[in-house]
Amino acid sequence: MNSDPAVPDAPRLDGLLLPRHVAMIMDGNGRWARKRMLNRIRGHEKGADAVRTVVRTSRELGIPYLTLYAFSTENWERPETEIAALMMLLKRFLKSEQQEMLENGIRLNAVGQIDHLPADVRSTLEKVMMITQHNMGMLLNLALSYGGRAEIIRAVRDIVSKVQKNELDPEQITDDLIGDHLYTRGMPDPDLLIRTGGEMRVSNFLLWQIAYTEIFVTSTLWPDFSKEEYIGILRDFQKRERRFGKTGA
Ligand code: IPE
Ligand code: IPE
Ligand code: MG
Repeated sequence: MNSDPAVPDAPRLDGLLLPRHVAMIMDGNGRWARKRMLNRIRGHEKGADAVRTVVRTSRELGIPYLTLYAFSTENWERPETEIAALMMLLKRFLKSEQQEMLENGIRLNAVGQIDHLPADVRSTLEKVMMITQHNMGMLLNLALSYGGRAEIIRAVRDIVSKVQKNELDPEQITDDLIGDHLYTRGMPDPDLLIRTGGEMRVSNFLLWQIAYTEIFVTSTLWPDFSKEEYIGILRDFQKRERRFGKTGA
């Protein structure tokens, strides 16, 4: 049993364990729009509805940690108009969802280079993080200007500077110590990573943390991702045997 109330035990569905931490690469908004001869930005707009669905469903099921890849360090290389639209949509989403987050016990957190975000988005984000900070129902982690390599570089710099100041002995560098220097400090590693849009790659997401994560790729484009499909993937997860390098026995 877990004694820390901030870290709930794994929830169950039909008696079987659900993941404690689900991570998602929300991909395919642009293709969803292109198929309809729409501007890519319309795909991102529609994608916000799928985010809402996934957050609600995760909360209903009692999943304690949900991490959503919303914007990568590489996404800064997209056209300025698309970046501006994504930032506007992010701000709009935070404003429209803050009440529901409060009512449903959802704590908002961000992982990534938050200081790279436009000032208005950052202040909205920080405000929602602040007002939801005591919620314990679920941690909603938004990966914003996030890159797994940048996260590891930041951790290495931190650790090296502690070693240089003699605050840390190199012998003390362990898995746990590195984990404690990542944005996801204090959270369990994802049990399940879902990628929509069909690409068989991790695109610089949670590189350290997904060492033993179960991966599910669906060709469904993110704006079409539904509660039913999500639950189907969770049921698939429940059938998997996680061996962590050991034998099945
Ligand atoms: C995911 O959809 C959203 C972000 C990366 C911000 P995309 O915009 O990557 O959509 P596709 O992959 O071009 O279809
Ligand atoms: C991954 O999608 C990033 C997010 C979902 C935020 P991308 O569309 O940026 O990834 P690639 O370009 O297909 O690898
Ligand atoms: Mg994409």
